[in-house]
Amino acid sequence: MSAFEVIIYDKQDGIGYITLNRPEALNAYNIRMRDELYEVLGAIRDDPEVAAVILKGAGGKAFCAGADLTEFLTAPSPVIARQARFQRDVWGRFLNIDKPFIAAMHGYVLGSGIEMALCCDIRLAAEDARFGLPEPGLGIIPAAGGSQTLPRTIGRAAALEMLMSGRWLTSEEAYRLKLVNRVVPHADLLLAAEKIAIKIKTHDRTAVSYIKQAVTRGLDLTLAEGLELEAQLGRRLTAAQE
Ligand code: COA
Repeated sequence: MSAFEVIIYDKQDGIGYITLNRPEALNAYNIRMRDELYEVLGAIRDDPEVAAVILKGAGGKAFCAGADLTEFLTAPSPVIARQARFQRDVWGRFLNIDKPFIAAMHGYVLGSGIEMALCCDIRLAAEDARFGLPEPGLGIIPAAGGSQTLPRTIGRAAALEMLMSGRWLTSEEAYRLKLVNRVVPHADLLLAAEKIAIKIKTHDRTAVSYIKQAVTRGLDLTLAEGLELEAQLGRRLTAAQE
């Protein structure tokens, strides 16, 4: 794997740690970050040692303040800036990795910051986290899957209010809307994420992976199809364990 500039990747005892690392720009998502995330996600997908992944932001102020507005402003138009972001399907890759991802969020969680967290399976928020989708104010729509993943997570009405009004949420509001699983003091955020990752790591890897597949793929199916998927995965797991 090449040296990264705007993310840090560490692996300790079967847990992968991805840190968004542009604290001077509140970890804003730029093209370099897209390329590095694409690369690291591929490595995580293919690394049998990684049982769970924690995604976090560097610095004290933000998980991620959304798309890098300087790249938007230097591109000939926001549309062209967005096209550059579509060239690598980071979000498709993210959503298709059958390993558990935990987002540990503090401070500003804006735009693609929320969308990145929505690609994760479990979301923890520090008490100081603030969530917002500034896209409509910039004349754009989410480009990292948010228009699809947010309503599937918090429901249509709450998602549309956030997406259309741009209203920000406190961490408590995010918890009430089920955008985050839990709110913890900022100082305890990483430890809380690690506790979950360590617990998951004690379980059979294939069972965890099939549970993720059954739930995430099943949500896009009818109940009958979902039950069939669960039965198929169950049979495959039993066969693998015999
Ligand atoms: N893209 C590029 N740089 C960004 C950024 C972004 N999305 N968000 C923050 N930064 C940079 C600021 O330009 C500033 O850089 P500087 O120190 O060189 O001037 C640095 O990060 C710190 O941000 P600052 O605005 O000084 O912090 P703040 O606490 O006063 O305000 C925010 C924080 C998040 C409210 C404000 O930075 C903001 O509104 N950012 C844009 C959010 C956004 O619209 N994102 C796009 C979503 S699609």
